[in-house]
Amino acid sequence: MTAAAIRDHFPLLNTCVYLANNSTGAVPKGAERVLADYWKSLSTWRDSVWDGWHEGLDEYTAGLADFIGAPPGSVAVDANLSAFLARIASCFDYRAPRNRVVITDLEFPTVPFIWNAFRRYGAEVLVSGTGGPHLDEDALLRSIDERTLLVSVPHASFSSGATVDLERLVKHAHSVGALVVVDAFQSVGVMPLDVTALDVDFVLGGSHKWMCGVGTAFLYVRPDLLPGLEPAATGWQAGDRALTFQPSTGYAGDARRFTGGTPFPLTALVSRVGLDLLRGVGIEAIRAHSLACTDRIIERAGAAGLRVVSPAEPHRRGGVVCLDLPESVKYRLAERDMICSWRTYLRIGPHVYNTLDEIDAFMDALEDVTR
Ligand SMILES: Cc1ncc(COP(=O)(O)O)c(C=O)c1O
Repeated sequence: MTAAAIRDHFPLLNTCVYLANNSTGAVPKGAERVLADYWKSLSTWRDSVWDGWHEGLDEYTAGLADFIGAPPGSVAVDANLSAFLARIASCFDYRAPRNRVVITDLEFPTVPFIWNAFRRYGAEVLVSGTGGPHLDEDALLRSIDERTLLVSVPHASFSSGATVDLERLVKHAHSVGALVVVDAFQSVGVMPLDVTALDVDFVLGGSHKWMCGVGTAFLYVRPDLLPGLEPAATGWQAGDRALTFQPSTGYAGDARRFTGGTPFPLTALVSRVGLDLLRGVGIEAIRAHSLACTDRIIERAGAAGLRVVSPAEPHRRGGVVCLDLPESVKYRLAERDMICSWRTYLRIGPHVYNTLDEIDAFMDALEDVTR
């Protein structure tokens, strides 16, 4: 499928110029069928419905794994990224001298909140950052040494769109014996991500932004690490005998060991529709279109004298362009059905289904309301 053909699948695009995909992505109309089937299952309930739901969950998980270059059995799906990050954190002993967790000041708030909670178990949390929207990668690498247990970074920052060079980071972290946890919520679906090629240890992401899904998250764990990781924050589905309903004798062999309690199939089943569409287009084509759109935003903002906060170099930015404008601008644009989001900066996040004409219409409106 071409980037242009995918557009017809998203009814939301007929109601507005939708450029808030970094906040909540559009959901394809195929979801309507899934929701109707779900209701049918509920209204004619038999316990065997669970078999089909588990199958659907497994297929969604396998599709995600394929999308990020992960081998079978290395990806798990659950409610949200926070639950998975806390489970990762609960696998480790935070005993000096290797008890440091290095994070950046560009994290989504859940990341520092969780790591700071692990201070009570001995984690020493070190925040690397400039205090501004960009990352000083050299400084970040300098803060990672033999005292570092884990490095927890975003692939692309939710607030500025700045990206981290994961290849360089992972190589350095591994050279001093540290493991790397990547929050890819703001990159997966809009930027290429090959977890195997990167040799990264943990990757977290979710469906309701660039993945065109709803309310579900995933975790990839490097397969050779799995046998040694036993989350203390857990639940019966992570056990080796989960679906026999017998007491488990240990953890599941694969990434299921990072799951928790009863899964909630609806959001995964709905999210699968978007994932399949994105896989049909291909991540390289998605990234090329995204860069064309964000280039246009940067060019138009520059011409209008608006300050661009996101990095200008294409390989340094994710799917979003942030402009230094107050939140009121977002509301003035919304009155004209021009939809974007605001977190410290105005965030404009086009996706594969947006057109350059839409970008121009949006930027015309932006110039008008900021004049
Ligand atoms: C970078 C990033 N991480 C995490 C999240 C959300 O985490 P959770 O699924 O725990 O709500 C978001 C946005 O909602 C995000 O932008």
